Amino acid sequence: MGKNVGRFLAKNGFEVVPIVRKGGKKTVDFGQVVISENLAESSLTGSVKGSVALLHFIGKGRQTADSSYDAVNVNLTRNAVALCKKAGIKKIIYLSGLGVDKKSTLGYFISKFKAEQEIVKSGLDYTIFRPSYIMGKNDPLSQILAGQMRKGSVVIAGSGKYRLQPVLVSDVAQVVTKAISAKQFSKKIIDLVGPQVVTYNKFVKDLVGAKAQIRHVDFEQAYHDALSSSDSQFGVDDLSILVGDYIGNHKKLVDISGIEFTKYGDMLQACRLS
Ligand SMILES: NC(=O)c1ccc[n+]([C@@H]2O[C@H](COP(=O)([O-])OP(=O)(O)OC[C@H]3O[C@@H](n4cnc5c(N)ncnc54)[C@H](OP(=O)(O)O)[C@@H]3O)[C@@H](O)[C@H]2O)c1
Repeated sequence: MGKNVGRFLAKNGFEVVPIVRKGGKKTVDFGQVVISENLAESSLTGSVKGSVALLHFIGKGRQTADSSYDAVNVNLTRNAVALCKKAGIKKIIYLSGLGVDKKSTLGYFISKFKAEQEIVKSGLDYTIFRPSYIMGKNDPLSQILAGQMRKGSVVIAGSGKYRLQPVLVSDVAQVVTKAISAKQFSKKIIDLVGPQVVTYNKFVKDLVGAKAQIRHVDFEQAYHDALSSSDSQFGVDDLSILVGDYIGNHKKLVDISGIEFTKYGDMLQACRLS
């Protein structure tokens, strides 16, 4: 998201300060990179002072003993809020997740909810988006499916009847850009979802077509693989989010943003797998 939104902003006349960590993916072509490990270094303040907004896209969807959801999703959001206050940045934009709710018992959603609360209670102006699956040319899910496709078969865990509401990355870039200054986005939590709800079965079929065989695996087996290996393509929380069947309010997003979102069929064309 950082790269896509950063490029879009730069093309549209914004001066962008990309903040990346040491050893991260630093091939950034839209601004002078600033290095930060945790957004808390005092030297960072000067580099971003007076910016109109902080776009906080740091996030983690799989935790390990060395890098927990609390450490990344919550603590770095707390640091992002503190950075805004130190640098006089009045607005923060955050990407949370569709399905995040106070009542959720999923560790990932709990961390995202706590991160949202850090922002809501900060006194800053904010827009928090809760995205469904953001689709782009090389997004992580497409890459997994493309990799499986090259091996001849694509795997669906369980029934595949669970649904998603994909939204195209270039549309997300537009919405985020509008949210920087448009008043109607102020202090709002908004579902970031595309125009069509599709089952995972349909989505995989539409994306893969006849290029590979589609194979259902027992959900228990997929879950076991996810539990026992950090190399498994889907983590336990990825699977939980999928079966969570989270659907959002696209109409509200259209009403607030005034953007005409890319239709599902055109999204598939834009992100065709090879
Ligand atoms: N893409 C989606 O479909 C989707 C859906 C719902 C919510 N979201 C949320 O949207 C945000 C951006 O997603 P994305 O797809 O752009 O994910 P991504 O490509 O994995 O980017 C996550 C960013 O967080 C940084 N990061 C991760 N752990 C960090 C740590 N310990 N310290 C500092 N930086 C760290 C990564 O840095 P490196 O580049 O150095 O690894 C990367 O820049 C995330 O918060 C994600 O939860 C995305």
